[in-house]
Amino acid sequence: MFKINDNYLKLPGSYLFSTIAQKVAAYTEAHSEADIIRLGIGDVTQPIAPAIIEAVHKAADEMGTPEGFHGYAPDLGYEFLRSKIAKEDFQARGCDISADEIFVSDGAKCDCGNIQEIFSLDNRIAVCDPVYPVYVDSNVMAGRGGVYDAATERFSDIIYMPCTAENNFAPELPAETPDLIYLCFPNNPTGSVLTKEQLQQWVDYANKVGAVILYDAAYEAYISEDNIPHSIYECEGARTCAIEFRSFSKNAGFTGMRLGFTVVPKDLKCGDVMLHTLWARRHGTKYNGAPYIIQKAGEAVYSPEGKAQLKKQVAYYMQNAHVIYDGLKSAGYTVSGGVNSPYIWMKTPDGMTSWEFFDYLLEHANVVGTPGSGFGPSGEGYFRLTAFGTYENTVKAVERMKQL
Ligand code: MLT
Repeated sequence: MFKINDNYLKLPGSYLFSTIAQKVAAYTEAHSEADIIRLGIGDVTQPIAPAIIEAVHKAADEMGTPEGFHGYAPDLGYEFLRSKIAKEDFQARGCDISADEIFVSDGAKCDCGNIQEIFSLDNRIAVCDPVYPVYVDSNVMAGRGGVYDAATERFSDIIYMPCTAENNFAPELPAETPDLIYLCFPNNPTGSVLTKEQLQQWVDYANKVGAVILYDAAYEAYISEDNIPHSIYECEGARTCAIEFRSFSKNAGFTGMRLGFTVVPKDLKCGDVMLHTLWARRHGTKYNGAPYIIQKAGEAVYSPEGKAQLKKQVAYYMQNAHVIYDGLKSAGYTVSGGVNSPYIWMKTPDGMTSWEFFDYLLEHANVVGTPGSGFGPSGEGYFRLTAFGTYENTVKAVERMKQL
């Protein structure tokens, strides 16, 4: 008789964004006239930039010719894309990262979820609380969670690092020593950032205790202030303790195209074993690469036209962020984030729980957001709004919220 991986049964409820989608679908079915504005999941709304679409068309045409046809992509991604990434995203910022340390994939979510496979099951993970649910869920599925306590909403074997208004939503070094530390900055969900000095402290700490930092930099394109690092490799010593995840979803609107990459420096070792070798082994075994057409689209992100068009796109979303931040603040809400991030983190009014406010907002303003408690117990009493809607809908949503 077969057995299931019963670690899955330890996961409370379904994936956060699936739960929200189900709730919204049920509401819409009961209120077909409702003009719902979705500022929940961080999905983009602007069309793919012209320079990128042009590259897609060109690559698609190539695929229809004998000389331009491409079958399986190279395991780690096409050289034309990896060298662009190394040069533009890292070397241009003074980071010592080379093209053969880049692993192209179909998105940061999969890489963030899969990376734990190359680590021993008895490693202890540390996560921010609140946190992007993928880090916790993927480790629980693998068996690293321990026992779930419904009262505290925590797993016994996971180290939680509360990110609250008191610490400016920036985690403090944990009291217990972790083996793997998940950090995401600019942060999802709180929109907070770490300064270079703050991130350097984490790098120094990881090198000191022999931990690996799994650094999710999916939102780096939204950084507007100086002294906020775009990559962890801007910090000294990060090559021996950090893996970085990047996405094309948020900076270039690829949520429906799927493209991302992971950086594993060759200096990152456990004894004599390079993590690079293990991740390459996994990649080669379980993955056949992002499609040629999509990797060509990714290359266009770095062209002069692509860069200029995407700068405008990011500015468009950041304008939305300002509309939400300023609008809610002037209406008396307590808000943060939204300056170096497309996420605005607000305190729920009148002591409502996160889910109570979700229902209230859906019913009275027909606006969908994300309950803070869905990201972890320290998110209770908070609510996340995304700047990825259209400008018109964003203005409308804020106006409706002001009327409440
Ligand atoms: C979010 O809303 O947190 C993001 O869209 C999740 C993701 O990028 O997978």
